[in-house]
Formats: sequence, C-alpha cells, structure tokens
Amino acid sequence: MLKKKNKYTVAVAGATGAVGREMLEILEERKFPAGELVALASERSEGERVRFKGKSVIVRKLDKDSFRDVDIAFFSAGAERSLEFAPAAVKSGAVVIDNSSAFRMDPKVPLVVPEVNAHAVERHNGIIANPNCATIAMVMVLKPIHDRVKIKRVVVTTFQSVSGTGKEAMEELAHQTVALLNFKDVETKVYPHQIAFNCIPHIDSFLDNGYTREEMKMLHETRKIMEDAAIRVTATTVRVPVFRCHSESLNIELETGLSADEVRAILAAAPGVIVYDDPKKNLYPLAIDVVGKDETYVGRVREDESVPNGINLWVVSDNLRKGAALNAVQIAEELIR
Ligand SMILES: NC(=O)c1ccc[n+]([C@@H]2O[C@H](COP(=O)([O-])OP(=O)(O)OC[C@H]3O[C@@H](n4cnc5c(N)ncnc54)[C@H](OP(=O)(O)O)[C@@H]3O)[C@@H](O)[C@H]2O)c1
Repeated sequence: MLKKKNKYTVAVAGATGAVGREMLEILEERKFPAGELVALASERSEGERVRFKGKSVIVRKLDKDSFRDVDIAFFSAGAERSLEFAPAAVKSGAVVIDNSSAFRMDPKVPLVVPEVNAHAVERHNGIIANPNCATIAMVMVLKPIHDRVKIKRVVVTTFQSVSGTGKEAMEELAHQTVALLNFKDVETKVYPHQIAFNCIPHIDSFLDNGYTREEMKMLHETRKIMEDAAIRVTATTVRVPVFRCHSESLNIELETGLSADEVRAILAAAPGVIVYDDPKKNLYPLAIDVVGKDETYVGRVREDESVPNGINLWVVSDNLRKGAALNAVQIAEELIR
C-alpha cells in the first residue's frame, strides 16, 4: 500500500513514447505532487532527455532495478514490458499504473476509469490497469445512462486515430500523406495497409470468432469497469487517417425508453462529459476540436427509430489524454487522495 507523502517519486516506463510524453505534461499541468522523476525507455533512448517541471531529466534503460525508491510507476511501454517489469516494480514497493493490456482482465487487478469506478482503486494488490482508449471513451457516456436506465446492448463502431498505435504510426501517416501528395510510392511498416486516405477495419489481431482483440476488449473491459456482466457489446474498430482523437458511433438499446432530451440532460450532468449537440448550427464533436481536451465530448444524440428504446450517440475523446495519460494520472490522484 502507498504511504502518504508530501512528494512521491514517480517513474514513467515509456517516457519517450506518445503516451509517456503526454503523461509528463499532465503530471506537471495537474500539479501532481511528484518529487523525483525516473524516466525510462528502451536502450534506443538511453541518455536522451525529457523535460519535466522545467528540468531536463536523463532517460534510463528500463530494467528490473529501475524502481528503487519509486512510489508510483506508470507503465506505457507495451504489454511485454509490463509483464516483464511491473512485478519487479511492485516488489520494490511501487504501485504500478499500467496502460497496456497486460493485466486488464486479471481478476486481482482493478480496471479503473475514475469517473465510473474510482472505488475499485482501493482493491489493488500493487497493480492498477488503465483500460483501452476506445473503451474509456465509451464507458464515460454509458455509465451515467446505465445508472438511470439499464443498458441492454451497445453496437459501437470506432474511428480511431493513428496516435492510438504510438509515435511510429503518426510518422507513417505523415510520411505516406506527403509521399502520395507528391505522386510517390508509399512505404507501409506499422499497419498492414496504407493508412493515408484510407480506413482499415482492423485494430490488433484477429481472433477465431472473426472479431479483433480490440473489439473484444470493448466488450470485456466494459463489463468489468461497469460491474455488469450482462451488458452486451458488439464492436467494429476502424483505424482512420486522423492523427489524434478517437471518434465512436454508439447505438444503445435501453431496458425502458429515454428521450433524446433526457439523455442529453443525463450526460450534461455527468462528470468529465461535455454535450456538444446543435446539428442545426453544424455543431457536433470533431476530432480536430477535441485534441488536448480532458473531457469526453458527445453529440448527435437522437432516438433510434428502428428499435424500441434505442438511442444513437457520437462520442469523441483525446486518446492520448483521457484514453491513456490523463486517466492514468487521475488513477494516481485517487491513490494518494
Ligand atoms: N497511444 C494510445 O492512445 C494508447 C492508449 C492506451 C494505451 N496505450 C498503451 O500505452 C503503451 C505505449 O503506447 P504509445 O502509444 O506511447 O507507444 P509509442 O509511442 O510507440 O511509445 C512506446 C514507448 O515504450 C518504450 N519501449 C518500447 N520498447 C521498449 C523496451 N524494450 N524497453 C523499454 N521501453 C520500451 C519506447 O521507448 P523508445 O523511445 O526507446 O523506443 C517508448 O517510450 C502501449 O502499451 C499501448 O498499448 C496507448
């Protein structure tokens, strides 16, 4: 368990990555009581520097001895690194907040979105998992509705930005776009197909049931976070040529009816959610407007005329902030509260 302190020694494993860099900014921005920062990455980045609280901090290679005197260790260096090094961090006395998929479905590990299930943090045994970015955006709007009227089923289609894959994917989209606009051939390294000017209905690997792992995460993680094993979710996850922010189309089937106005009122009162919904003025959430925002934006709220008790929503969230770094820092804030 974490001892109360005035300042906590914080480690970030993956400090040079898309999520890690955002994490450093958010820790600083939210005045998290971080004393020393231990910045960790692969040997490729050993000796590089990252900025934190006006200082330049040397990046060290992640290894099992990296966590001496560390109180809180944020992991965003991929699931393999979490599986290999998180137990060592816990053994050294740190509490791990893990951004990868390594421990999310482990029954001993709480899976937390603070606005939804902050209470779960207390049950940790050294590791707390941060959900998948597409799941976080979805549960932020599902939970307040579910608390009012039970949700039976959700049909979700995602439009996920390339930053969800990390820094190399952002470079790939930029390079391919420039190449194509200059009538040159594109190089494809990160994704199985060209991502520039394209949509790829394939995120993470395919499973025997025809879904991808990302799609099944949206079902299993939603059930765990919302503490309701009965809720049904079917997902189609799509990578789109957008740099930052995931958008999602949600179709929700409720046990009893709610009008679009009632849903708007429920969501307007929900923590961390902003209703932005005036289609007559062409106002609805857009990825380009939500970059850098902490809140989950929702619009296009309307009653589904094809089924009883159906509601349609359009949700946009910054995957690097609420979908990853911000949610992890909020978990740490719960931990030290
Ligand atoms: N991007 C998102 O929206 C998002 C959302 C939720 C969760 N996540 C999760 O967060 C993690 C990081 O994602 P990202 O988008 O930040 O990826 P990224 O931009 O590719 O960064 C990966 C980070 O991990 C480090 N790393 C890679 N291999 C390593 C090794 N062998 N030893 C130590 N460090 C290593 C990298 O260090 P180098 O710079 O030295 O290579 C870099 O700091 C992943 O587990 C991902 O699933 C990401």
